[in-house]
Amino acid sequence: MADLTLRDVKKSYGNLNILHGIDLDIKSGEFIVFVGPSGCGKSTLLRSIAGLEEITGGTLEIAGEKVNDVPPSKRGIAMVFQSYALYPHMTVYDNMAFGMKIAKESKAEIDKRVRAAAEILQLTKYLDRLPKAMSGGQRQRVAIGRAIVRNPKVFLFDEPLSNLDAALRVATRIEIAKLKESMPETTMIYVTHDQVEAMTLADRIVVLKDGRIEQVGTPMELYKHPGNLFVAQFIGSPAMNILPATIERAGETSLVSHLAGRKSPVPVATPSDAQGKAVSFGVRPEDLYVATGDDFLFEGMVDYVEQLGEVQLVYVDIGRPDQPLTAKLPGNVEIKRGTVIRLAASADDLHIFGGDGRSYARRRTAVAA
Ligand SMILES: Nc1ncnc2c1ncn2[C@@H]1O[C@H](COP(=O)(O)OP(=O)(O)O)[C@@H](O)[C@H]1O
Ligand SMILES: [Mg+2]
Repeated sequence: MADLTLRDVKKSYGNLNILHGIDLDIKSGEFIVFVGPSGCGKSTLLRSIAGLEEITGGTLEIAGEKVNDVPPSKRGIAMVFQSYALYPHMTVYDNMAFGMKIAKESKAEIDKRVRAAAEILQLTKYLDRLPKAMSGGQRQRVAIGRAIVRNPKVFLFDEPLSNLDAALRVATRIEIAKLKESMPETTMIYVTHDQVEAMTLADRIVVLKDGRIEQVGTPMELYKHPGNLFVAQFIGSPAMNILPATIERAGETSLVSHLAGRKSPVPVATPSDAQGKAVSFGVRPEDLYVATGDDFLFEGMVDYVEQLGEVQLVYVDIGRPDQPLTAKLPGNVEIKRGTVIRLAASADDLHIFGGDGRSYARRRTAVAA
């Protein structure tokens, strides 16, 4: 059980600033995911929380105690890394027990905790095996088990699935989701560059870019109400379509004209001084559908189709050089390359971003919570 509080946390190497003042409150028992492109500072932030990096500014509190100067071993934290580095000559059992043996815990206590962790991770029947006789996913579970037996208040994961192949990644991701359910008291922070992992695992996602927080929210908040263009295009795959547009009429509902020369009412309130301003107009590929009547958003030529079976990604030339519009449509409708297609979207699925890249707040529907 531990809350975490980060206040203006900064990290620099010499005069190279990596973290620019991170403010974040994490509640006890929350599963928080740090997501962002490679190099944005996710590992640095996680390692700073663990105490493996000394922060150069701000304060860090764990369970109400300022820990800036507390060594890693005294922070009540366990960390799982991308490379699982097990001792090759030790069995699964001994790998998991090693830390507790060093800490001179009793044999009975060690046995109890190792077996409990093995049970959670479905490793019980592998306890006598050596790591080399196990798959990558199983080895990563042993590494997680090694962290569980330490009974941490805070569990940190740094891209634990990125060394696994696609199928194992999915299976192990589900294991981690179950692990979270079996340890509801433990605060977990999980770093990934994979937005699918972020969406599926997190109670709340922290989107980072260039050492700054872009947005914090539940997965659906970030998906439905991205606060800016970066979050809009980072969360969701394929990325949200963004088109240059102009506010024709500001108000409770804004009238937007976009590149294809059409005007669309969008249920987003814009202030009167936004009238006539250049903005970005956004719509997700999966929110587009084939229009039946004359009420459509986009009309264009189908440039290319990627059939994935269940869905197809349809790239439509709407007159933007080198930038087709992407639509994710059901796979069971035939869509021919070279034909003209009209696409529509529900007004609730349209987004407007101002010149500074920040979104205008959209009216919230019940689903979006
Ligand atoms: N020891 C270090 N010295 C100097 N720069 C570093 C050091 N460690 C990390 N960095 C830099 O800090 C930035 C953030 O790195 P990191 O936190 O590892 O990113 P992420 O985990 O998001 O991919 C990168 O530009 C990286 O090159
Ligand atoms: Mg990293």
